[in-house]
Amino acid sequence: MSITIRQSDAKDFPALFRLDQKCFAPGIAYSKTMLKHFLSRAGAECLVAVDGKEIVGFILTEENPPLGHVMTLDVAESHRRRGIGTLLLCESENNLGFRGVRTMLLETALTNDAGVAFWQQHGYRIEAVLKNYYPGHLDAYEMRKRLAVEAKIKSQPGLKEI
Ligand SMILES: CC(C)(COP(=O)(O)OP(=O)(O)OC[C@H]1O[C@@H](n2cnc3c(N)ncnc32)[C@H](O)[C@@H]1OP(=O)(O)O)[C@@H](O)C(=O)NCCC(=O)NCCS
Repeated sequence: MSITIRQSDAKDFPALFRLDQKCFAPGIAYSKTMLKHFLSRAGAECLVAVDGKEIVGFILTEENPPLGHVMTLDVAESHRRRGIGTLLLCESENNLGFRGVRTMLLETALTNDAGVAFWQQHGYRIEAVLKNYYPGHLDAYEMRKRLAVEAKIKSQPGLKEI
């Protein structure tokens, strides 16, 4: 499997929307309007993972250094547990760190065992429980990670063999 990580562009939108709808339950998945809004906000960055011509994952972040916020991280079910989420997150943390982000923040549903395991594996710690954060009285964990302060070298997105 040869995965390319690159910045998203406008024509990726339908694929991003479809993937997000598949990755999250109704109420948690973004509507088209919300996804468009978050993609176009100042400080937003979206990286996509491409296998051949297919978008198989993406990460959407927002930054206001020294804070960075992971809005969502989505990997197609068919492509999970192959390191794609890790590739996207590492590339994103590297980019944000390069631009002065020192603390990463995110929210994930208490019921999202895979998500929580993934974030903990990458050094994110549970900071708080946000009551009724999602529709249907679903609580969320707020999770945080302090990025290393050493000088970051902006990596060039490109082909990764995984
Ligand atoms: C969470 C998610 C992004 C992980 O993506 P992925 O590409 O499968 O993750 P990786 O292959 O890089 O996994 C890295 C490590 O995270 C942990 N992990 C990932 N998925 C896991 C699972 N289902 N159960 C337990 N641990 C898991 C493991 O430690 C894994 O390493 P390993 O495979 O060597 O054991 C993916 O499952 C997904 O898109 N889920 C739906 C959307 C979502 O919940 N996003 C996160 C909340 S915003």
